[in-house]
Amino acid sequence: MSDNKKPIISAVGLSKVFRDFWSRPKAKAVNDIDFEVYEGEVIGLLGPNGSGKSTTVKMILGLLYPTAGTLSVFGQSPRAVETKQQVGYLPEESYLYKYLTAIETLDFFGALFNLSAEERRSRSDQLLEMVGLSHARRRRVGEFSKGMARRIGLAQAMINDPSLLILDEPTSGLDPLGCKEVKDLILMLKKRGKTVLITSHLLSDVEDICDRVIILYGGKIRATGTLNELLTVTDANRITTPALNPAVTDKLISILRENLSGDEFTFDHPRKSLEQFFLEVISQAKAESIETAGVVGGGKIAEYLTENQTPEAILNDLTRNTDNVTAAEPAVKREPAENIEEENKAIERLTADAPAVEKTAETQEKPAEIAAKAEEDLSKANEKLKDLLS
Ligand SMILES: Nc1ncnc2c1ncn2[C@@H]1O[C@H](COP(=O)(O)OP(=O)(O)OP(=O)(O)O)[C@@H](O)[C@H]1O
Ligand SMILES: [Mg+2]
Repeated sequence: MSDNKKPIISAVGLSKVFRDFWSRPKAKAVNDIDFEVYEGEVIGLLGPNGSGKSTTVKMILGLLYPTAGTLSVFGQSPRAVETKQQVGYLPEESYLYKYLTAIETLDFFGALFNLSAEERRSRSDQLLEMVGLSHARRRRVGEFSKGMARRIGLAQAMINDPSLLILDEPTSGLDPLGCKEVKDLILMLKKRGKTVLITSHLLSDVEDICDRVIILYGGKIRATGTLNELLTVTDANRITTPALNPAVTDKLISILRENLSGDEFTFDHPRKSLEQFFLEVISQAKAESIETAGVVGGGKIAEYLTENQTPEAILNDLTRNTDNVTAAEPAVKREPAENIEEENKAIERLTADAPAVEKTAETQEKPAEIAAKAEEDLSKANEKLKDLLS
């Protein structure tokens, strides 16, 4: 990653010691850490309670001064105005003014970035649609459910079209559908060339979206790397095939027994994640038009958010995935089917959530048909979150 990407955040020997009233050291929250965050990656900052995540984030945002070490964001001090203009932040706790409506909230934050009234209105409309809150634009945010508050917080963090987004627990308080949508949103933002730093205790969410993680404990970095590097078990193999008939199964098991000279092995069916199963059940229920009380959903990325993902970058993304795999597991021979599956997933990720107006193979062929389908997709997406945001 470091070979061809430029660092957006660079920390060397970064430390933060909190002192008490008499200036005696009270807590060494961050203890001499070095790390870099590269352009266009989604990075997870993980660690148990009190491990220094929020302190690190606050130093990156220029809200806290480091006690020692150097920290640069976009090559400048985190406190520089130019730096702040390129950063969007979703804090862990709700900080919204409860008497402002959704639209007033976005307008307020837009004004802090000196956006014109017209720009604020246009961006607010797009953002509310993107996070599925268009229907609640005139409701006070103080009345919002946890999930709705998270969504308006995300919209607020994007009002200035930031290049770097720092999201503290972005999926906290959301149900599985909401989590999935936020994760898809983060992946869409990555596709748009944004750099995203998230902190989270929900490890499965981190696993779904992060390219790389940094794990903190006691203010120190205990592990860092890509998920492939950290999670691939290189001293075991897995082959996934279509369902086999009993004769083939018996044959394979006897071959394995012969060749493994007594070593234990497992032969079973793959299991889907509970999240995947849950989402399937819900989408099936939706398809059968089961009535649920709900409101409107989103999913369409705001047009104004800078699009700087070139076809070359998409290709790089795909090949980088494979590179990581090769680097991480030199001893493991991967079956072509598994590679193809991974690449298909990557392509799906890169294309499935593209906004309706983006070019796809289909739009190039039959624009009218695709426009109609886009309309249909949008109304489906709107239906989708009806039961989330009551
Ligand atoms: N303003 C402060 N004054 C004194 N100590 C602080 C302050 N902020 C944080 N600390 C201490 O610094 C350490 C790291 O806290 P931090 O909030 O960075 O942890 P965290 O990893 O974000 O935890 P959590 O997962 O609970 O949010 C803790 O021991 C905490 O008590
Ligand atoms: Mg914290």
